[in-house]
Amino acid sequence: MITPMNVLLTGGTGFLGEYIMAELLERGHSIWALYRSESRKLDTIRFLGSVGLPRSANSLHWFKGEILDAYDQWDNWCKDYDGLDSVDTLIHSAASTRLHMDDSGEPLKTNLGSAKVLRRLIERKPMRVHLISTAYVCGLVQGLRMMEASHPKGDFVNVYEESKWESEEIWKGEATLLRPSIIVGHSETARCASFTGWYILFQAAHLLDRLMGETANSSRLSLGISIPADPYATTNVVPVDYVAKAAVRIIENPSHHNKIYHLTHPDPPTHKWTLDLICRRFNLGGLDFSGAGSPFTQPRNRIERMVWRQMQTILLHFANNPIFDRTLTESAVPDLEVPSISEEFVEKLIDYAIESDWGQSTQ
Ligand SMILES: NC(=O)c1ccc[n+]([C@@H]2O[C@H](COP(=O)([O-])OP(=O)(O)OC[C@H]3O[C@@H](n4cnc5c(N)ncnc54)[C@H](OP(=O)(O)O)[C@@H]3O)[C@@H](O)[C@H]2O)c1
Repeated sequence: MITPMNVLLTGGTGFLGEYIMAELLERGHSIWALYRSESRKLDTIRFLGSVGLPRSANSLHWFKGEILDAYDQWDNWCKDYDGLDSVDTLIHSAASTRLHMDDSGEPLKTNLGSAKVLRRLIERKPMRVHLISTAYVCGLVQGLRMMEASHPKGDFVNVYEESKWESEEIWKGEATLLRPSIIVGHSETARCASFTGWYILFQAAHLLDRLMGETANSSRLSLGISIPADPYATTNVVPVDYVAKAAVRIIENPSHHNKIYHLTHPDPPTHKWTLDLICRRFNLGGLDFSGAGSPFTQPRNRIERMVWRQMQTILLHFANNPIFDRTLTESAVPDLEVPSISEEFVEKLIDYAIESDWGQSTQ
């Protein structure tokens, strides 16, 4: 028997947030969803309608605001939105997923800022707290098994990872930390609303394919590029529906609270498997792995320069190779199967991404 939660959800209009919202409604919970933009809210309502939700208008309420104002505005929001102060659970999924610092101070501003603001809010308005973090708070790791525990400050690949690590530090022991790896589209429909992460790798290959246009097969198939990475290391990708289901099921059970969970794939694809698939899909060849740390082949001609530019993006994806321990997650949600990352599924993800013009067209 599940005890219904009354959830304050941040980031409900985001890629993962929409699936968390659908899962919460499906399982009989109530939601107060913070949103900023009317059009994003409408997109989310449309999405919920497309999966047959919400069944009852009483279970989903929206309130407009900026997460960084949550402490200062709480009393005003409670006055404006009758019932908001009855929330008992906070699921914080809102974040800036920008990888590198921009002029406005993102992603630190939102990610670290919201952790601090919500920490203060909880002292005034107690709630059970569950944060969506990232498995990559471990920083740059080569083949080591990362446990579902706090990590010492690592060698971060980007400011985004650092901002998520800093946020975890603020909540350590007092919130459930849910750490997805790289989130990809739905395991059945391939639907995706944020073409970051793994998609950038495929987008780079797609662009390369188009740049090469009518280039003869003899050139396309003998690019002569050696990637300085371990071919049998893995990239951990996980479908969005699994992450949402696991997160909600973990949160529903108070005995799981305030621990750390890797919402990651137990059997992620190796770099070689992924690269072979990319080469088949985009009619490219002559790309192989020369092992971590070996020198990167320098471009010798126009085609190689073109390839090389795209490879800078591709390389980043093969550089970080942690293995994520899932002991706590498996004991919390033992019956929840993680959909496999099959060739058919990845082809479907790429088809969906290309049809959506990598997020440029409306979903
Ligand atoms: N995507 C991944 O591969 C991945 C992997 C691991 C962990 N995560 C984590 O999963 C969570 C969800 O990511 P996502 O992919 O769903 O991101 P997303 O699609 O970019 O959505 C971000 C959400 O946060 C909201 N938001 C951002 N700044 C805000 C602010 N200042 N005030 C209020 N709302 C704000 C956005 O609202 P608007 O709609 O108004 O912009 C949106 O709803 C994040 O915590 C992210 O760090 C993501």
